[in-house]
Amino acid sequence: MTTLRPFRCEDMFHFNNVNLDPLTETYGLLFYLQYLAHWPEYFQVAESPSGVIMGYIMGKAEGLSENWHGHVTALTVAPEYRRLGLAKQLMAILEDISEKKRCFFVDLFVRVSNSVAISMYKKLGYIIYRTVLQYYSGDPDEDAYDMRKALSRDIQKKSVIPLTHPVRPEDIE
Ligand SMILES: CC(C)(COP(=O)(O)OP(=O)(O)OC[C@H]1O[C@@H](n2cnc3c(N)ncnc32)[C@H](O)[C@@H]1OP(=O)(O)O)[C@@H](O)C(=O)NCCC(=O)NCCS
Repeated sequence: MTTLRPFRCEDMFHFNNVNLDPLTETYGLLFYLQYLAHWPEYFQVAESPSGVIMGYIMGKAEGLSENWHGHVTALTVAPEYRRLGLAKQLMAILEDISEKKRCFFVDLFVRVSNSVAISMYKKLGYIIYRTVLQYYSGDPDEDAYDMRKALSRDIQKKSVIPLTHPVRPEDIE
């Protein structure tokens, strides 16, 4: 049976099988440790019965007043464990924590070319809130969709009224 549990420091020695995917954003070890120290509740892993890391989610809560929100920093599932509902379950955990923290919404950034993830997020109730130009650096740079889902505290659903114009990365709060 799959176990969903908090991420531990030593998991960083075993998550290369997940991170090798080209669509998975990978970071330096300090970045993961910073998340683990600040937002341990938002860093969850799916582990197989034999101890293999199947996928993980990493996130945080940030923003002031009505911009107080949960953010998905990374979500990834190893290719051999996809379409089993793991990402859906990991997202449900992050959304539940964000509800408990009284966040107004959850947001995330996704490459505009990542049609699988975009359709999954839409299925989970996320909308494209705005386009962030050249958010991902590379050759060439790639735009991101900032996708959002309103939580119960946002009664008027103000957080999910889409912006009509694209923004630049430096304009993101
Ligand atoms: C996107 C990703 C996280 C989905 O993980 P997953 O565990 O396979 O997703 P789930 O099984 O929970 O799928 C939930 C729903 O998303 C949709 N979905 C997921 N993968 C899909 C695919 N390949 N094609 C079509 N729909 C898909 C389906 O509607 C699915 O529900 P269903 O299986 O009941 O039809 C995974 O493909 C991945 O790790 N991709 C690489 C990294 C990435 O792109 N991360 C997101 C960056 S923001």
